Amino acid sequence: MAKNIPLNERIILALDVADPATAKEFVKKTEASLGYYKVGLQLFMAGWFDVVDWIVDRGHKVMLDLKFFDIPETVKLAVAQIQAHGVSLATIHGNDAIIEAALEERGDLQLLAVTVLTSFGEEDLRAMGMTQSIEDLVYFRAKRALKLGCDGVVCSGVEAAKLRDGLGDKLIMVTPGIRPGANIMDDSDDQTRIMTAGRAIAAGADHVVVGRPITKVSDPLAVIAAMQAEIAALG
Ligand code: C5P
Repeated sequence: MAKNIPLNERIILALDVADPATAKEFVKKTEASLGYYKVGLQLFMAGWFDVVDWIVDRGHKVMLDLKFFDIPETVKLAVAQIQAHGVSLATIHGNDAIIEAALEERGDLQLLAVTVLTSFGEEDLRAMGMTQSIEDLVYFRAKRALKLGCDGVVCSGVEAAKLRDGLGDKLIMVTPGIRPGANIMDDSDDQTRIMTAGRAIAAGADHVVVGRPITKVSDPLAVIAAMQAEIAALG
């Protein structure tokens, strides 16, 4: 593990829940062991910046995962709206012009470029008319994003080692598609390129994003503890 990131910030809990009240319950239940939360489309649509501000005011970090994609000016102005809310990481994607426009309004925010969704497999790329392999496309997009000035990328654990080796330590690498332990393929939900938390961090990810394996189980704290033990064991 190249970076000195606190154990309670290695897992970013994806608060993919329907309303702010449920999100707040999850934060209260887990905050003794976690300090990083992801607000995505579902929760943001329900709780807007109020829920983001609430999490930040409690002293936690927030990744705002709205995956902005629009014409450069629109993305730039949307990124500007995130300023003043104390968000740590936000996600965008698009071509050079879109990424450059977003970076103009970055401020203190760290911007991550989404490479290829972890729910996509090779056949999904073919169906969208893309001919490159996922691995090559993720590497190409990550290299490009870094060159343009992005702070990091979202990618799967499967590509993490290649990106870390090829693109260096500076890149913030955030990895969703995390599933615990032995039944990894049985519990994949809609995710395709999946890995355990420990293996993703060992492969070079800075943070793992975990949602349903924590939010849809009877004992979320046990899952968090097991994942953190795997990560801590890496040294
Ligand atoms: O429930 P699960 O652990 O599969 O949740 C993964 C989370 O990571 C979701 O909130 C999803 O939006 C997000 N994500 C992803 N793949 C990406 C980027 C974000 O699965 N490339």
